[in-house]
Amino acid sequence: MSFRTATAVIDCQALVDNFNIIKAMAPNTKMLAVLKANGYGHGLERIAKALPLADAFGVARIDEALALRAAGIIQPIVLLEGFFSPDELAILAVNDLQTIVHNKEQLDAICQAQLDRPLKVWLKIDTGMHRLGINPDEFNHFYTLLSQSKNVQQSLVLMSHLGCADECNNDITTTQIALFEQLTSTLSEEKSLANSAAIYAWPSAHYDWIRPGLMLYGVSPMQNTAEKVNANEQLSKISPVMTLQSSLIAVREITAGETVGYGGAWSCQSNTKIGVVAIGYGDGYPRHAKNGTPVLINGRRVPIVGRVSMDMITVDLGFEAQDRVGDLAILWGTNLPVEEIAHWATTIPYELLCNITRRVQIEVI
Ligand SMILES: Cc1ncc(COP(=O)(O)O)c(C=O)c1O
Repeated sequence: MSFRTATAVIDCQALVDNFNIIKAMAPNTKMLAVLKANGYGHGLERIAKALPLADAFGVARIDEALALRAAGIIQPIVLLEGFFSPDELAILAVNDLQTIVHNKEQLDAICQAQLDRPLKVWLKIDTGMHRLGINPDEFNHFYTLLSQSKNVQQSLVLMSHLGCADECNNDITTTQIALFEQLTSTLSEEKSLANSAAIYAWPSAHYDWIRPGLMLYGVSPMQNTAEKVNANEQLSKISPVMTLQSSLIAVREITAGETVGYGGAWSCQSNTKIGVVAIGYGDGYPRHAKNGTPVLINGRRVPIVGRVSMDMITVDLGFEAQDRVGDLAILWGTNLPVEEIAHWATTIPYELLCNITRRVQIEVI
């Protein structure tokens, strides 16, 4: 007897295919592949190594950047939140790491530092998302000081981030792009604005560097349901890099009126068979997945019934089911988009992918 426990199967060919599809969407741009949060749960070094043609990688923390360098990654690496302390500047210089500058503290630290070599800086402007970035009226000041600093390589990259690119018709995005254009159009520096959603939905935001994250992993960045997205030709070509799977560890017959799981939160209307799948919130499966959330058992969609537990979920296999202990269960991935599971769990696919926990086995294909 040997049952598969929770396993994330990582399909590196799907990753490369997605990379090429994204390149075709924005053919005249360079690509910074976003790998933060452990490559959106897919494995930081693994994803970087599988993308030798990426022009650069983006991470959120210096530790992630250093892990990539330690793994032998030689492409440019950009800290998407910049450095957190002036002490880090020397580390950036030695390891050839690039940094975003988005506030005055970072500007002052760079200008005052004693560095052996100048740093590549991406200057981040807040064009309306109001998260990170300098105010538009500070742009000339930052641009002038950074352009003149001996600690900064020439030239800068000018960038901003869009808050609503996942909606095709959104005035905020139109305004953000117009402001970015107004501030930077006369400048010769390289520019960068587009995350996955903008690569797909806002071609005028492509500029010189695109910055895909989610779409590289084969997940739609648009707010639509999976069905609507599948109807879209370009987006339907991307395929999931992660398939999360486990196995049935019990098949139980229950009688009409009996309840299943903690709190007796679900009771069956008629006699049925309940399958117990070895995965739960301890693996990163969302506890808030509602009754009805689909699971693929032997390629057939069956609904979750009862509450998600730490190590198990229960599904209604149906009275006639022939499924057996040890059979394969797919929680998301090929033929079951994580976008759809996110919808059932009232969250977003980013969160589900990042939440995969350490006990989940990884199988790379
Ligand atoms: C600055 C920046 N660029 C690009 C991305 C990639 O976004 P997405 O995963 O939606 O493509 C992110 C992710 O949040 C980001 O913070």
